[in-house]
Amino acid sequence: MKRPVAYVAGTGRGVPATVLTNHDFASRGIETTHDWIVERTGIHERRLAGEGESTCSMAADAARRAMEKAGVQAGDLDVIVLSTATPDRLLPATAVDLQAALGAQRAAAFDISAACSGWLYGITVAEGLIASGAAQTILVVGAEKMSAIVDWSDRATCVLFGDGAGAVVLKARDHTRRTDDPKHAKGILSTFMRSDGQLAELLWRPAGGATVPFTEAVLTDRSHFVKMAGREVFKHAVRSMSEAADRALDGARLTGADIDVMIPHQANVRIIEATAKHANIPMDKVYVNVDRFGNTSSASIGIALDEAVERGRVKEGSTVLLVAFGAGFTWASMVVRF
Ligand code: ACO
Repeated sequence: MKRPVAYVAGTGRGVPATVLTNHDFASRGIETTHDWIVERTGIHERRLAGEGESTCSMAADAARRAMEKAGVQAGDLDVIVLSTATPDRLLPATAVDLQAALGAQRAAAFDISAACSGWLYGITVAEGLIASGAAQTILVVGAEKMSAIVDWSDRATCVLFGDGAGAVVLKARDHTRRTDDPKHAKGILSTFMRSDGQLAELLWRPAGGATVPFTEAVLTDRSHFVKMAGREVFKHAVRSMSEAADRALDGARLTGADIDVMIPHQANVRIIEATAKHANIPMDKVYVNVDRFGNTSSASIGIALDEAVERGRVKEGSTVLLVAFGAGFTWASMVVRF
């Protein structure tokens, strides 16, 4: 087992106040029912960004809370990594808007695009920057305004997603403390990332950079909304999240029995149950809030982690498995001791 180089010093979340319940879809002209949505996904309601709320503003809310809990000032941040599939602008990165909003004058800032796995990708990149000595204190935020990119006339996708942001502050561990027993050391114990771009067509959204963008599909469908083959995505999600859970556990030389809390990407409760079963982790050790927030893409694990800390589910000494899957496809995981 490796000696951890970085640890989670603070967590935070920023979620809009506006709640959209399953029952509210009727008033939007969407033909669906509460029972259908709950049975297929476990979702009861989700949050929607309101007037004046952006990916950056939700990210800033989450970031300020994480920094406060970590005892970190904006000027202490060396790097800001922002994962999003819904940047406020394509140029520049939303991370620099966040850097300005926080007044983090010393911080380098950049976005990561790896869909729902992006926050774990971001933490992995941040851990690498800390390991190399390039940075000591890094803010990693996952922030998504999914309501801006879902097709509100497509009942198969619009019921799934929600808006919000989750954040952590990562700090370098003190390498001079050689007495640490790695078995009990706190910090990131293992990380794992994978992708398969052959499957990109199963979940995607058009943009301006493609060399051959004017296919029949794009010409006839002028919408620039998310397109998803739900059933196929479901199958791959279960398979890839199961693999990711195995790899992170192997990397930390642990089994499911050693995990105190599993916090998976909150896309669908059936995907979560299948992943937990594969990893031999009982559902009472799995943190689930997809019922209240829907799928907030790369914000979902950060929001859930912050709630789990606040509710005492994750505490000092807890060994936590984080697992994600998203468009790309991408998948990722890590084991973190708090
Ligand atoms: N309300 C009522 N009926 C609906 C709705 C709805 N909101 N949406 C679809 N239906 C209907 C369909 O029209 C279809 O009707 P038909 O049989 O008459 O043609 C029927 O329900 C079944 O449709 P399916 O798409 O086959 O339903 P399925 O059981 O696969 O559930 C779902 C759909 C919930 C999207 C499921 O496939 C799923 O959860 N997939 C994973 C999606 C996901 O999690 N994506 C994100 C992961 S990656 C990331 O987070 C970016």
